Amino acid sequence: MPLSGRWTLTRYLIEERRRFPGASGDFNALILDVALACKAIARIVAFGTLADTVGATLPNGMGGEVNVQGEVQKPLDVLSNEIFVRMNEWNGHLAGLASEEMEAPRQIPASYPRGKYLLVFDPLDGSSNIDVNVSVGSIFSILRAPQEVIDSGRDVTEADFLQPGAAQVAAGYAIYGPTTMLVLSVGNGVAGFTLNPNLGEFVLSRADIRVPEQTQEFAINSSNSRFWEPPVKRYVDECLAGKTGPRGKDFNMRWIASMVAEAHRILMRGGVFMYPRDTKDPAKPGRLRLLYEANPIGFVMEQAGGRASTGRQPILGVKPGALHQRIGVVFGSKAEVERIERYHHEPPPSEAPAPLFAPRSLFRD
Ligand code: F6P
Repeated sequence: MPLSGRWTLTRYLIEERRRFPGASGDFNALILDVALACKAIARIVAFGTLADTVGATLPNGMGGEVNVQGEVQKPLDVLSNEIFVRMNEWNGHLAGLASEEMEAPRQIPASYPRGKYLLVFDPLDGSSNIDVNVSVGSIFSILRAPQEVIDSGRDVTEADFLQPGAAQVAAGYAIYGPTTMLVLSVGNGVAGFTLNPNLGEFVLSRADIRVPEQTQEFAINSSNSRFWEPPVKRYVDECLAGKTGPRGKDFNMRWIASMVAEAHRILMRGGVFMYPRDTKDPAKPGRLRLLYEANPIGFVMEQAGGRASTGRQPILGVKPGALHQRIGVVFGSKAEVERIERYHHEPPPSEAPAPLFAPRSLFRD
């Protein structure tokens, strides 16, 4: 293991690649372009409402609002999307891109070569938090394009992206907080890199991130509690009951409303995050998006020894049905996520067996 804080992202990727003597280097080059997009977004986010001083205004006709100077200002999430696209479409490593901000997959322009990977991303997750200066982030997922797409070089379709999270080649996020960090998994654990603003380089600062198995902290938007399903309600009630309840310990609750920030906290010190399926809007089977929120964060969690679930099954096993599909999400410390899954599979308390063997009994196993 390298000394923490001594390797740049480039070196980390090269050292990782040495495990695969046949690797071409395309993948590393792609990650570096993704990282460059994140650095550019970090810069714009840091300028906040002063962003037009760093060129965050784009030509008219591109869907922004006109500012007092008569320039068109793009919302930061649309601008971040443009940055991701522009910094990755040219490099010859991608067969196509898809993002939260684009209804359909983006084709690689005819003037550039096409490659073997697909890039899926949420360019600025939690962007409403920008207004209140709370941490936000970019989330990315890299998949292999189907072989037939690589061989034919044809345009990508939505169906090409509908791969389960377990098929991800790499995933990660950048968090724009007091420091900018890139947290990455290339399928061999999770590493965290802090942006050194003097060098403009991501430098390895957390070599082998592991999610603590046990926790006393949970995160959920409890304003939705009346819509929760019974297993979620049971879990939260038990946490709230604290020391004198069935868990026998007090819990803390956190809700930042910025999933990247919650995921990062959980990777650093444990915890569980829930945005479960609920009954608020029967048309929506969850709030978060599967392909560019749940899957990449789920991949990172599992690679860090945590767990990611819908509550009913592992997130990474879900076969997506649509590019912008929503899903119920529970992730974090393994023991807690497994407990929540168990509650989903157990019969509701009214159908539970006699009290002697019920979960609160002295005789539970
Ligand atoms: O999906 C965007 C997002 O901002 C997430 O980052 C966050 O976890 C969630 O929405 C917040 O939802 P709510 O507004 O219900 O708190």
